[in-house]
Parts: sequence; C-alpha cells; structure tokens
Amino acid sequence: MTLSLLKVGVLISGRGSNLKALLDYQSKNRCHFEVSVVLSDKAEAAGLKYAEERGIPTVVVSRRPKSLTSEAFNAELVESLKPFAPELIVLAGFMRIIGANFLEAFSGNVVNIHPSLLPLFPGADGQAQAVAAKVLESGCTVHYVVPEVDAGPTIAQCRVPVLPEDTVDTLSARILQQEHQVLPAVVEAIAQGAVTQGQDGGVIFADSVKDTPLGKFL
Ligand code: GRF
Repeated sequence: MTLSLLKVGVLISGRGSNLKALLDYQSKNRCHFEVSVVLSDKAEAAGLKYAEERGIPTVVVSRRPKSLTSEAFNAELVESLKPFAPELIVLAGFMRIIGANFLEAFSGNVVNIHPSLLPLFPGADGQAQAVAAKVLESGCTVHYVVPEVDAGPTIAQCRVPVLPEDTVDTLSARILQQEHQVLPAVVEAIAQGAVTQGQDGGVIFADSVKDTPLGKFL
C-alpha cells in the first residue's frame, strides 16, 4: 500500500539548518510527510541549496518594490506556493510577517519555530534577550501561527540551560540542536494526524501522539 504523504512547504530567509533537519529526517525515516517546495524571500538564502541538492522545487519571492503592502506580499507568497499544493506550511527562519490572508489560504495550517520559550522573548533576537535577562533556562517553541508575531498556540517546547558563561552564540547553538530534533517530530506528528488545530485555534493532541516521535517531547 502506498503511503499518502503530507505535502509540506518550508519558508526560509537564510541558513536553512531547520530545513536541512526536516529533509534529513525525511530521507532517514519512513515518515508521513514530504517537503514539496521551499520558498525564500531572499535569492541568496544559503538554505536553498539543501532543496536544490535534493531536486526539491525552490521559489524566491522578494518583497520588491518596498512599497508593496504586507497584504499584497502575502498574496504573492500564496500564489507562488499554490502550484505545489502544500498542506502544511513550516516557517523555518522566515523573517517576514505572515498576514491573515496567508493564514486563511492555508486554513491555519502554518507552524513556526522560535528560539525561546514563548511567551518569553518573542521577536528577532530571542537568544540575545535570554542572555541579557540572565535567565537560568531557555529553549525553543514550535507553535501554530496567528497574525500576532510569535503568539500562536504552542505545540511543543524544548528546554536548555543558560550557563553563566554563555554568549548569544553558545546559547543559540545549544537551542538549535533542540530545534533540529523537535521540528521534524512536530511535522511528523501533524502528518500522522496526531496533532491538529481545533475550531477555536487551540492545539488538539490525539492519544496516538505518544506513539509519534513527538511523544518524547510532551
Ligand atoms: C532558528 O533559530 C529559528 O528558531 C528562528 O530562525 C532560526 C533559523 O535558523 N526562527 P535556520 O535558518 O533554520 O538555520
């Protein structure tokens, strides 16, 4: 019997190590998803190479002209993704704000990975904020996306210690290791139907989630 794979669109802006983690997971496991397209808002995003190496289609949609409204830019993103029919969108270091029209087009099936324990330290520099605040622990959060930045319902979090001698770089590296584990686990759990979003936007975990790779993170 052939397995029907959930088509995933991954949006990046730079390095793409989380994209690589998803693609490595896909090639090493009998998983229930496949990355069907990778979109970047920057043609020079290093991470695009991971898709190209594997023959996965890539699309670049840059926000030009700068006068383009956020709504029009989001509409362009939707149009560019449509031919690849992604059923789940993963924001993996995508540095643009996702609008309500984008979320509607994908029925809210959009997740983001953020390098802090949300609701602490939202925004572009989650790791730097954690170091500056001298907290004892930080981590990463995978959450459903809502129009407010880094504010949607949490699917999973991973914790790491923040050491007194940590710099932004050492903490970022420690968090990133966890990101690379938990993001594929969340995508796989969604692909297996073990994580869904309720009518009210809340996260629903089926009992079967404990048998998915996400089980060990919950
Ligand atoms: C990650 O730290 C992710 O949490 C944040 O942006 C960074 C992207 O890194 N949203 P990479 O491009 O996946 O290497």
